[in-house]
Amino acid sequence: MPQLTINGETYDFEKGETILQVALRNEVEIPHYCYHPGLSIVANCRICLAEVWAPNAKTGTLEPGAKLFPTCQHPAAEGQVVHTESPKAISNQKSVMEYLLINHPVDCPVCDQAGECHLQDYSYQYGRGQSRFQEQKDKKPKKDLGPHVLLYSDRCIMCTRCVRFTREVTGTGELLVEGRGSTEQIDIFPGVALDNELSGNVIDICPVGALLDKDFLFQQRVWFLKKTPSIDGITASGDNISVEHNEGRVYRVKPRHNAEVNQWWITDEVRYGWKFVHREDRLLLPTVKGVEYWPLEAAAEAWATALERTNALLESVASGASGASAANGASAANGASAANGAGEGKSAAGANSVPGRNTTKRIGLLVSPMLSCEDAFWLARWVRAIDANATLAVGPVPRMGTDRAFPSGFTVSAEKAPNARGVRRVLEALGGASVLDADALLAEVQKGAIGAAVVTGNYPSGWVTPAMRAALSSVPFILIDTLPNELSSLADVVIPGAAWVEKEGCFENRNGRIQAFERAFAPVDFARAEAQIALDLLAQLDGAIPAAYSAASTRSEMAKSGLTGFSAIHETPARATTEPDMVYIEI
Ligand code: SF4
Ligand code: FES
Repeated sequence: MPQLTINGETYDFEKGETILQVALRNEVEIPHYCYHPGLSIVANCRICLAEVWAPNAKTGTLEPGAKLFPTCQHPAAEGQVVHTESPKAISNQKSVMEYLLINHPVDCPVCDQAGECHLQDYSYQYGRGQSRFQEQKDKKPKKDLGPHVLLYSDRCIMCTRCVRFTREVTGTGELLVEGRGSTEQIDIFPGVALDNELSGNVIDICPVGALLDKDFLFQQRVWFLKKTPSIDGITASGDNISVEHNEGRVYRVKPRHNAEVNQWWITDEVRYGWKFVHREDRLLLPTVKGVEYWPLEAAAEAWATALERTNALLESVASGASGASAANGASAANGASAANGAGEGKSAAGANSVPGRNTTKRIGLLVSPMLSCEDAFWLARWVRAIDANATLAVGPVPRMGTDRAFPSGFTVSAEKAPNARGVRRVLEALGGASVLDADALLAEVQKGAIGAAVVTGNYPSGWVTPAMRAALSSVPFILIDTLPNELSSLADVVIPGAAWVEKEGCFENRNGRIQAFERAFAPVDFARAEAQIALDLLAQLDGAIPAAYSAASTRSEMAKSGLTGFSAIHETPARATTEPDMVYIEI
């Protein structure tokens, strides 16, 4: 393999690599602004220039290049010797930094990029430390580029990454360079906003604080953010993301590079789709029909009652208990539903409970494709522990149109659920090939074959159809969900679940790739991960102490149960959650 030397160290390289690419692959720092691995190479910022010596083709003697070369563009060659720390290279770095800062407002204290700004970092590492510029600075305007992006023109260093992104990745070409010399500015064409499905990526690739996220503007200093590796929990893309959060609150979602899935990019839908996690009306405590609402202080009692009622209701159906209300102790004479305590309109619960009628009714479990494989596993285990022949089904899978590919190959997923395939894989492994879809399960309910249902939601927006509501109004059912909806008032027991950022697990994306994600923070208030809820319900059945849910132990349990595919799971990077580099100190 050919080799070159950078600052005295020798490195192998592949034919076609540039000097900067070899350096970056080997974690050798060479400052760079305009180079981005996902974009064409233009070599216009000039900070990466280095002294490059190469062997003379005839004599083999090492000779210096006639000038400094841009390492981002200059191909690596056998025997090359590169100096980025020589007096000439350092002099260039200092000059470039000085030019870039001439008209820069140096407003780091109020800039969102402070703490993750290449201009700030390189100024410290490669700059002069003081300005020699005494004249008036050129002032440039702030511009509203589109629904998500603001441009603070006077912070721009004209690297053109953003322009190349809209030309090469999205092919939408909204951005351009307008003007010449010191009056050059990034702009949009009149009346054409930066409004494509990937627009937020220009914020990530801007190496300075020029392109800003309206949603994140002045929300948080970046050095307080923890970064948790995660997977898109909104669509079936499986895009690798980093959830950036502080004190139990998401502040932004950024892409994590994965060459096999999403490269460097995510859609705006994935970037901003987490808002439902912090909705004011999140379900915080269980509710049981016929029981007064509990205050938050009575959370333990609420959970104990909800778990007990839930199991009692399902057991009464599974055992075909006739008449007697197994769960609430109510009189059988009124034909009330076993657990709802109210029973109006739900006497079909007891179609099971008609005296003298032998039950053939099953429990139905509808597992949402928003849930993880581990959630699906424990929910199915729990329901099957009560009714070994429970009917298993995958919840509704929302779709919007068809998959759309950008010129770069990046594809926007039409399927708006992260784990339809993973949930089906788990349920089929546990329940055979007879796993239904949501409509088929509802048809079973309407036929009277289902005596009680467990329904899981966890969708970021409305998902309950009139047909679903009509079908479920005829049987007692348990709802496990994160947000209130048209089923909440109908359900016999409502149990608050956890959004994907509040738990760990794995999703299988639209291409059958199973990827793990980590928990960013604990579920809101008294909500619990669905897998934990199922474990608690299993323990309640046996009067045992509930096991604490963990994705790792669940996966070994899944392996013991013969579930295939989970040995090839794609784990998150070894360096998991990144702690902030600054913490509050109480004084
Ligand atoms: S706005 Fe940012 S990405 Fe675009 S040219 Fe300026 S510095 Fe580069
Ligand atoms: S990174 Fe090489 S010239 Fe900009």
